[in-house]
Amino acid sequence: MKINEERLLNRLYTLGKIGVNEEGKRTRLAADDAEKEGRDAVATWMMEAGLRVAVDKIGNLFGIWETEENKGKDPVMTGSHIDTVINAGQYDGCYGVLAGLEVIQSLKESGYKPARPMVVGAFTNEEGVRYSPDMLGSLVYAGGMTAKDACSIVGIDGTVLGEELKRIGYAGTEEPGFLTPSSFVELHIEQGPILDAEGISIGAVEDLQGISWQEITIEGSQNHAGTTPISYRRDAGVAAAKVITFMRERCLSSGGKTVSTTGCIAFEPNAINVIPSKAVFTVDVRNPNEDALKAEEKALADYLKELEKTDGVTVSTKRLSRFEPVLFSEKIVEKVEKSASAHGYSCRRITSGAGQDAQNLALMCPTAMIFIPSINGISHNPEEFSREEDLLNGANVLLDVLSELTEE
Ligand code: GLV
Ligand code: MN
Ligand code: MN
Repeated sequence: MKINEERLLNRLYTLGKIGVNEEGKRTRLAADDAEKEGRDAVATWMMEAGLRVAVDKIGNLFGIWETEENKGKDPVMTGSHIDTVINAGQYDGCYGVLAGLEVIQSLKESGYKPARPMVVGAFTNEEGVRYSPDMLGSLVYAGGMTAKDACSIVGIDGTVLGEELKRIGYAGTEEPGFLTPSSFVELHIEQGPILDAEGISIGAVEDLQGISWQEITIEGSQNHAGTTPISYRRDAGVAAAKVITFMRERCLSSGGKTVSTTGCIAFEPNAINVIPSKAVFTVDVRNPNEDALKAEEKALADYLKELEKTDGVTVSTKRLSRFEPVLFSEKIVEKVEKSASAHGYSCRRITSGAGQDAQNLALMCPTAMIFIPSINGISHNPEEFSREEDLLNGANVLLDVLSELTEE
C-alpha cells in the first residue's frame, strides 16, 4: 500500500505558493487573508477526497473519513497546522496536514476498510506569531483553554482572534474535542540538524521539550544621548541587552540543554540620539526537563529583580505561553521504528525541540510524532528544505502507523 506521491507533492507546493508577497516572502499568520486562502485549498482537497469537513469553535479544520461499519468509534487522528511564521518555509506544519490527508485518501481509494474512522486536522494558530499562546487550536481542542477565552485573545496587530475567524469564515460550530481520538500521530519536518547530519531518514519522536514564553517590559528614563553621563542613566535599552546576554550565559552553562531566544524587541521612543525610556521584548526559553526549565525561569526572575537595583529601571513581565515537556507513547514510537525498519529506512529516536500540536493532543490520547530530515537543520526561514524522497518516506511510515492504529 503506497500513497499517491505526485498528488502529495503537488498539493504541498501549491499550498506553499499561497501567501507569498511581491518580494517572494511567504507569510500566513493565523486567520489572516492568506491563511484563509490556504484553509480554502485544504478544505477543497478534503472534499475532493470525499471527507466530511468540519470546523470547531476555535477554527480547527478537520477532514473526517467515517464508514457505515466504523461510525461512532473513536477515530485515529493525524494532522498539524498550515499557519506560518513571518517569511516562512513551505514545509513546517503543511507537510503533516497534507501527508495526513494523502494517507487517508490513498487508503480510501485502495478500498481499505478501517475499523475506526480516520481524521486529519489543521489546527489554528500553531505558530503563535499573531496570537499567544502558540499551539492554541490544539490546546483548546484538548481542553486546556476554553474556546471563548481563546477567541478573545488580542493579537500583535490589535485584532481579536474570534472576530478574525468569523471574518474569514472559519468560526465553526463544533465543540472543540467533539471527536475523541483513540490515538494521534503527527508527521513533521525535524526543523533541526540531527537527522540530516547523521544521514538518518526517520526520527521516531519520543519526547518534546518544555516551552516558556514571556514578554518583558523594562522602564527607564528618556534622556539626551550626548549630555547624560553614563552614571546618570537609567537606560532601558542597556538593561534589555543585559537580559539577553544573561540568558545566553545560562544556555552556555546548561551543557546544551537550555535554549533561549529574544525574537522581538521594541524601544521607546526609538530614536538615535535618545536614551530608551522603555524596552519591550520577548524571551522564549526551552529545556527538555521541567525542573531545569523552572530553574531557568527562576534565574531570569531573580536577575530581573537585581537589574532593578543595579540599573535603576522597573521591570514587569507578562506570561505569554507555558508548556511542560511531553513524553510520547512508547507503543506508537515503536510502531514508527517498526515501519521504518520494514521499509529499510534508517531511524533513530529524537526529541522535538519545536512546539507541536501533538504535545496538546497527548493530553487526550496516546500520541507520537514522526520526523524527517530538514536539510542543514534550517527552519522558520524560507530556506527550509526537505528532499522529496524523505517527504515520501515519512508519509509511507505515517500510512503504516495510522492503519495499524485503526485496528486497535
Ligand atoms: C513552533 O514552531 C515553535 O515555536 O516551536
Ligand atoms: Mn510546525
Ligand atoms: Mn513552526
